[in-house]
Formats: sequence, C-alpha cells, structure tokens
Amino acid sequence: MKKILFVDDEINLLDGLKRMLRGMRNEWQMAFAPGAREALEILGNDSFDVIVTDMRMPGMDGCRLLNEVKERFPNIVRIILSGHSDKEEVLKSIGPVHQYLSKPCDAQVLKSTIARACTMQDLLENDSLIKIVSRIESLPSLPALYAEVIEAVNSPDGSLARVGEIISQDLGMAAKILQLVNSSFFGLPTHVSSPARAVAMLGIETVKALVLGVKIFSQFSMPDLQGYSIASLWNHSVATSCLAKNIAEKLKLKQTEINNSFLAGLLHDTGKLILLDRLPTACEEIVEVVISSGCPLFEAEQKVLGATHAQVGAYLLGIWGFPRSIVNGIAFHHCPGKCSDEGVSILTVVHLANGFEHKNSPDTANKALNFDLDYLSKLGIGDRLDTLRIP
Ligand SMILES: [Fe+2]
Ligand SMILES: [Fe+2]
Repeated sequence: MKKILFVDDEINLLDGLKRMLRGMRNEWQMAFAPGAREALEILGNDSFDVIVTDMRMPGMDGCRLLNEVKERFPNIVRIILSGHSDKEEVLKSIGPVHQYLSKPCDAQVLKSTIARACTMQDLLENDSLIKIVSRIESLPSLPALYAEVIEAVNSPDGSLARVGEIISQDLGMAAKILQLVNSSFFGLPTHVSSPARAVAMLGIETVKALVLGVKIFSQFSMPDLQGYSIASLWNHSVATSCLAKNIAEKLKLKQTEINNSFLAGLLHDTGKLILLDRLPTACEEIVEVVISSGCPLFEAEQKVLGATHAQVGAYLLGIWGFPRSIVNGIAFHHCPGKCSDEGVSILTVVHLANGFEHKNSPDTANKALNFDLDYLSKLGIGDRLDTLRIP
C-alpha cells in the first residue's frame, strides 16, 4: 500500500484533508503532521512514497522541509500545496519541489496528482532503476517558466497573448522558440516574428511543449559522446515530435493525444541527458558496449545499468505529474509490446516516430534500432509503415 504524508500547521486544514481523503483509506496509508519537525520524525521512523506539504509554516517552512527530504529521502515524491500569495516564493525555490498544487485544492485534483506520483513509485519497482535514481541524487525540477505558462493558460483571465508575453520576457527562450518555429521542422508558410504569433500559428499546446523542451535541454551542457550527443539529440527530439504529431493525426487519435504525442516525442530521450550528466563514466562504458557489440544503445544501457534512458526519462516526467499515457509513451518507446496499455496510443506513435527518425541517423547505436513488428501487427498497422513514415 502506498504511504502518503501530509504536513500543515493549520490543524483545521489537516482535518479537512483527512475528511476529503477518507475514501482513499483502502488504497493509501496516510499520516498527518502538524509541522516540519514532526514530519521529519515520522519520515525517520517509516518509509513513505509521497509527501504533500504546506508552504508557510512557523519554524521550518515547506521549501526547507522539502530540501531536507530531498537530501535524506531522495526517493520520496515531493509536492507542495501553497496559497496563491506564496506563488512567487515557490517559483523561486523550485529546486526541491517536484509538483505544486494551489490552495484551495479540489479533492479530485489532489487525488489524481498523488495517484500519478504513486505510479512513478511503481516504475521504481525495477531495482536497478531505484539504484540509478538514487545515484542521480536530485532530478531536475520542472522549469519555473513552464509552470508560469501553465498557470497563465489555466487562469480565467489567461490568454494566448499573455502566454506570448511571458515567453517574450525570457529573451533566450523567445529567440530559441522563434528559431525553432521558423526552421524546416515546422514548415510554416510565413516567417514568425513574435512568440505571440508562434502561439497563434502552432497552438498553445505545441508552444508549451517547446518551452519545456528548450528549458530541459538548456540545463545540460556536457561533452558529447557517441549516442548521447546533445546537439544531435535536440534535432532528433524535435524531428521525432513533429513526426509523432503527424502520425497521431494519421492514426486519428483524439486532439489531446495528438498534442501529448508531440510532447512525448520531444521528451522521449530526456533520460539520455540525465544519464550523461549524472553518470558519465557509466555512459562511456555503455558506448563501448555499443561499439564492440553493435547493439542498440538501450540494450547496452540495460546491460551496464540494468535500466534504460527510457525508464529514467519516464520517471522524471512522472514525478513532474505528466499523464500516464505520456509516461508510458516514454518508458516503453523501444519495447512497446512490454507495456500493458492496449490499442493505438501515444506509445504507438512515439515508437514509430522514434524508429523512423533513428533510421535516418548516422549513429550506429541508433541505426541498430528495430520496430516491434509483433506489437504493430497486433494493432493492425504493421503493413502501413510506409504511409506513416511520410510527413
Ligand atoms: Fe530512446
Ligand atoms: Fe530517440
């Protein structure tokens, strides 16, 4: 059973949470602490999967508490539940926070956020992945600018123009987004000269995904290694995302799934960035295995680390609260037949787009990749590969 710890100095609020979550008693074991000190004591005596804490508390506040949790119990998913006025503070101290929720929080949102966080702990049932994730120590946080864009999209007075403004304030981001949307990947008929125009032409979901992709990639600047080269990985990721969106349209997925296919395509290899940044020596060993055996990169990762970049990336997206369909699309992009999800899905699309894209790659590690033809023919699309390949 999953164990969740809730922390709030307002006893009424804690009681409210207890009432709100009564229905979850059979699925979650819940503990409630009236402050950070008590929370740390509880965590010291028992292992927990998720912590949900208030921001403003006397003594140690929510951010300091989560910093401490990050140091001492790195495998716990950390969620902050904060009042609107704390937003600035939370955004500044984003480091220790995996996800935020605003107070007052709708019961359903709270339940589904925690439930998603718990599915990540399931991915962690792979022992080797647990070891890797704990060696990685701290995973990158969800970029603050992305959180701001989401907030603007969701707020009642939010508008596409507002999203354009937010992006424009980050000059580096604005330049990168414009460079991208004007590149041949998107094939737009006219030149786009402002982020607001990019939002109008490509849609908010695509631009949102690009903001996230650009921010994640910009956090990493490591030496290139065959199979892990950052510059070619970025090109591969953008190409995969555009192709994924296209394939999702051809396979007639729902609009949200088409949007999410773009995002999953863009971020499907994020795990490579994390591995290269945090475990560079292991990556060198992995590349040696690829060179000597000619196997695909993910198989070499499996041999050396016992888990793959796909699982590491999926884990990250999971703790950031992305839907399960995206997380699975990333986790199983090399071996979709191993996923229990049925039917044509984001996973199908990412598997195809990634496969087509890697076939064009000059890298041996990527060329060796194969489609899971069994999986594709069960879905009735094994013989449609040629039509799906053409953008
Ligand atoms: Fe991959
Ligand atoms: Fe890939």
